[in-house]
Amino acid sequence: MRESAPPSAPLSEREPQPAVAADVLPAQSTKPPRLNIGTKGQGPAPTFASARRALSARPQSPGRPTSARPSSARASGDPLAGFGYVTLSPIANGAFSTVCRAKHLATQREVATKTFHKARYLQPGNAHLAQAMRNEIDVLRRLAPQQHPHIANIIEVVETAQAYVAVLEYCGGGSLQRLLQKNGACDRPHSLGLDERLARSISYQLADALGHMHGLGIAHRDVKPENVLFVGVGLETIKLCDFGFAVACGHKRLKTVCGTPQYMAPEIEASGSKEPYAGWAADMWALACCMFELLEGKPAFRGASVTQLNMRLVRASHEAFTAATPQQARALIKRILIMDAEKRLNAHQVMGGMWFAPNRRAAAARAEAAENTPRHPPPTYRDDHSDEERENAPVVMCS
Ligand SMILES: Nc1ncnc2c1ncn2[C@@H]1O[C@H](COP(=O)(O)OP(=O)(O)O)[C@@H](O)[C@H]1O
Ligand SMILES: [Mg+2]
Repeated sequence: MRESAPPSAPLSEREPQPAVAADVLPAQSTKPPRLNIGTKGQGPAPTFASARRALSARPQSPGRPTSARPSSARASGDPLAGFGYVTLSPIANGAFSTVCRAKHLATQREVATKTFHKARYLQPGNAHLAQAMRNEIDVLRRLAPQQHPHIANIIEVVETAQAYVAVLEYCGGGSLQRLLQKNGACDRPHSLGLDERLARSISYQLADALGHMHGLGIAHRDVKPENVLFVGVGLETIKLCDFGFAVACGHKRLKTVCGTPQYMAPEIEASGSKEPYAGWAADMWALACCMFELLEGKPAFRGASVTQLNMRLVRASHEAFTAATPQQARALIKRILIMDAEKRLNAHQVMGGMWFAPNRRAAAARAEAAENTPRHPPPTYRDDHSDEERENAPVVMCS
């Protein structure tokens, strides 16, 4: 067990926590819209019980449970106090979940907590929310053993009286969306691209995360700047977050229409009436959109209306490149933003592109250095859900 890792003992080993309300919610966040969702699932209607079952499948303990339950934290009414955490501050408040910064007291490690409020999930007609939550946790659990450096990995899931809480690796450097906005002019979201070296480093890490996920048969389906977080203010390392639309689909094609319109591959829109789509190829499209945006400072696809945006998407008619984008980067982006999904570059091919030669050299040097670092066996997880069950899950719009 890494010294800094919070404990993840089964719930049964923990003392019951006081039944108190979480009261750390900030004002409603302003987020770009996510497209909802025609649910294409043909499987049985999801139930809250199934989500509960999934969530109760907690990681095998990689270490001893903590005994840190300071009375001050308990007295504060923090529902996480019984689990050895103290909630520090709110980060984001979505329609169905709340993200906060917290600290594991025994190790002083900062974490992010994503809280799924039972009251919202138990409401009649909200079974699909429970299914979406279950998907998110399932995917994060599948990803956790490898501890990929560019994924905001799950540490554990705890159940309080009023919520399920996913404890995640904390990224304290803000989102890529925020950086782009800060970097840009005021008259539109952002209009100046990032420095090429930074844009390349972010793109490479994102491709690395996607290559890893796709290798495990997992598609993210909501890749966009808002879901790319910096680990620290130095902006050196990014992590992909928000697995609310992710699915462990293996080689199977997908039917659920989901994502964020500006980053959605044209075949997803088309899949409403036509063929199912490949999850990895849809993620690659979104990656190329992000690469464009990093370099150009504006989204690759824009439209005065959803109809106009869709028309541009289905023609792969992205905004024109300016001199800001170097030739080698353009070449990669152009080989992804093509209609024929099967012909798109995959993540490993993208990482092999000329533009990324400096990143490959740096990664090779890091890998060599890491050879000497002692490794620990990854935690293992119980997983009792079939791929079909996951793919059939409807997904919910959270904004
Ligand atoms: N691991 C994390 N560390 C720090 N901030 C996070 C983390 N995960 C999420 N956030 C913040 O919370 C926001 C919402 O979380 P996300 O998982 O994207 O949920 P939603 O489904 O509401 O978009 C993110 O855009 C990010 O600002
Ligand atoms: Mg998000």
